[in-house]
Amino acid sequence: MKITITGIKADIGSIGGHICPSKALLDEVRQIVQQAQKKGDIIDFRISHTGDDIAILATHTLGVDSEKIHRLAHEAFLAGTEVAKSQGLYGAGQDLLVDAFSGNIKGMGPAVAEMEIEERPSEAFLFFAADKTDPGAYSFFLYKAFASSCPGTFLGPSLFQGFKFTIMDVSYTEGDKVVELNSPEDLYDIQALLRDEGRFVVESIHSRTTQEIVVAVSTTRLHNIAGKYVGKDDPIMVVRTQKDFPATGEVLQPFAICPYVAGFMRGSHVGPLTPVPQNSTISYFDGPPIVSCAAYSVKEGKFTGPADTFADGAEFWQHIRRKAAQKAEWLREQEFFGVAMLPESELEYGGIVEKLEELEKKFKIRS
Ligand code: 13P
Ligand code: 13P
Ligand code: MG
Ligand code: MG
Repeated sequence: MKITITGIKADIGSIGGHICPSKALLDEVRQIVQQAQKKGDIIDFRISHTGDDIAILATHTLGVDSEKIHRLAHEAFLAGTEVAKSQGLYGAGQDLLVDAFSGNIKGMGPAVAEMEIEERPSEAFLFFAADKTDPGAYSFFLYKAFASSCPGTFLGPSLFQGFKFTIMDVSYTEGDKVVELNSPEDLYDIQALLRDEGRFVVESIHSRTTQEIVVAVSTTRLHNIAGKYVGKDDPIMVVRTQKDFPATGEVLQPFAICPYVAGFMRGSHVGPLTPVPQNSTISYFDGPPIVSCAAYSVKEGKFTGPADTFADGAEFWQHIRRKAAQKAEWLREQEFFGVAMLPESELEYGGIVEKLEELEKKFKIRS
């Protein structure tokens, strides 16, 4: 059976700053999506939040970029925004940057990751959602899991041929500027691009054995839509696993590295991407940057799950979170200095630009 897995997320308001949405807000979004399920527009769905971002995950048969599904998400977020306003939540409607819906929610602010698949007999996939960081944050993990650190690429014959990476230059705003590169032969080229996480972002990955889509990442950069900082681009990602694709554990392994990524306070700093359980809140310095991962099985579009992968009983990820906290502390110790903050080209708050212009006038050139 052919189904579409659609993830759409937005920040439409949050309690006490940029911490988490309210229960009433989540209930409102859920209730609207539930109505669409009753009408038969979608097969199944789950509502979750990561920090202050609400994600709708749904299955349906309408394909990617379906106007009906995108309109549904837009209506759910608009209704949620009204609840957020009525409760005085912070940043009500934050990610809804364009008012009038014109057929596709992409480019309006919310993040979209979706794929149409021929459902396998045992279809397993992971739904990642991150807060206080950029879409480029996922690129490092995808490089490791699909190209450089995946034992499946030499143990699993159906992975031997490698994967095709589609990489987007998100600094180009006139349209989608993409390049296709293959692992393993283009590894160095892939690295040459992905080192610049603010500009080059893995958009999707396909199997070179079966040609199937395996990964879909949201690539929205809000400041490219609004022209100024309006919040981070907190990305989502769908990754199919097992059989002809990396195993779930192979995809999860690199998250234990907790690499330093762009984001954190005011979207202007650097911090360790910390794996957390679903529905986690944010606190320290509006961070640290966090990522959650929900594992699902799906049959004829119906979900079983989620299994919350970073909330395991073995306490492995708790141990990792302590490491991440240590990394965050180490870098925060140097406050504004050097690598602790993003370079000027990435600084999200326009304020610094004005400040530097004022200071420029005070400089004198000594003869
Ligand atoms: P499959 O071949 O069923 O995907 O199993 C591989 C695996 O799970 C290794 O951890
Ligand atoms: P969000 O993008 O998660 O709303 O964060 C905004 C911010 O500036 C946090 O300091
Ligand atoms: Mg927010
Ligand atoms: Mg957020």
